[in-house]
Amino acid sequence: MSLSLSADQPEQPANADDGVWLECIECGETFAPFDDVRYTCDECDSLLEVRYADLPTFDDFEGQGVWRYADALPFEAGVSIQEGATPLYEVPSLEDEIGVEALRIKHEGMNPTGSFKDRGMTVGVRVAKELGVGRLACASTGNTSAALAAYGSRGGMQTLVLLPAGKVAAGKIAQASLHGAHILEVDGNFDACLDIVQELAGQGEAYLLNSLNPFRLEGQKTIGLEILEGFLADYDTVPDRIVLPVGNAGNTSALYKAFRELVQAGELAEDDVPKLTGVQAEGAAPMVEAIENGADEVRRWEEVETRATAIRIGNPVNAPKALPGIRETGGTAVAVSDEEITDAQRDIAAEGIGVEPASAASIAGLRKLRDEGIVADDERVACLTTGHLLKDPDAAAAAGSEPVPVPANTEGVLASLAGEDSSDR
Ligand code: F0G
Repeated sequence: MSLSLSADQPEQPANADDGVWLECIECGETFAPFDDVRYTCDECDSLLEVRYADLPTFDDFEGQGVWRYADALPFEAGVSIQEGATPLYEVPSLEDEIGVEALRIKHEGMNPTGSFKDRGMTVGVRVAKELGVGRLACASTGNTSAALAAYGSRGGMQTLVLLPAGKVAAGKIAQASLHGAHILEVDGNFDACLDIVQELAGQGEAYLLNSLNPFRLEGQKTIGLEILEGFLADYDTVPDRIVLPVGNAGNTSALYKAFRELVQAGELAEDDVPKLTGVQAEGAAPMVEAIENGADEVRRWEEVETRATAIRIGNPVNAPKALPGIRETGGTAVAVSDEEITDAQRDIAAEGIGVEPASAASIAGLRKLRDEGIVADDERVACLTTGHLLKDPDAAAAAGSEPVPVPANTEGVLASLAGEDSSDR
């Protein structure tokens, strides 16, 4: 299996360009990286990964943000809006309550457009320029569309986004709209949108920037690299476990790839690789089903529903990369209810950190696995929160308290406060 942690560094093929090539994860076929537009293997239609002749060590990284890790990326610089370098927050109350040795929240909502998608887009849009394509496109539950619109406009390119009608949070549509994307609302769910965009891309109508695009995942590797560097600086060791929400399983695949490359570079021991632990909403949990059943493939769920609209996904396209990632690192996957997600969103907010519902799934999942004894009390854990609270203002308002109307005078305000003090609020 090529996606094993113990795989050797591959031989550079003749079609590599400056030490970079694309390789099929199933049949091993290699392709020149920038000669043609290609998302999957010509031979067997499986997923592709970017490969490098030289893999960096921590000493090779310099600067800040995604491009600090240029030596682990296909280019030296990209179309950038200063993405990455997100906070690794301490959360002492949650750490105590959940009961682990250390808990940190890596808040990807602090990226320029408010989600981790920016890390992928800074690389993906750079590749689009290299390939000389015209229009950029994605299917999206919202965040990818916001990032594509912003990075596409920054790069001077047209953007097209397909969204599941009625199922995308307000902040995300507002971003895609203001950054100038052509927005189509599809009468279907995210998976249907992705089917259509893949066909459009196959017909040469647009360059696909969903996480099926192997270059986007290169940028997202930097989440894992930042977490490791943060833990090494603060605890002198890497985390035992990284817990993250799962939709298309792009991040799961990207983090696994980052760690595999560090192992191949001799920078990280196989046994020290953090356990990748995926969390899905109960109403959209095909990866959890596959992990629980020990299945080699993920069954596509046609009907999906969850308040965490960002991860309302029934067909995780990166599953062939992510399943080995979860299994090889000794991780697991767990499903949580919408109520557990909202409770976690409130608890994270009580630490001063604002996240959207899908992001809170990571803390909800950790709490559940700790309660079940699957996570031990001596573990050091990083939870990934993938998007900002303001992405989904309606969900935040529904999870928070109602504003109280008062007249425009001090007496009225005091009367209201007095009344409130005697109430249960
Ligand atoms: N969290 C948030 C906030 C997301 O927006 C997404 C994916 C995920 C988690 C899941 O990440 O796909 O790497 O497993 N959002 C995509 C979008 C689908 O269109 O914005 P994954």
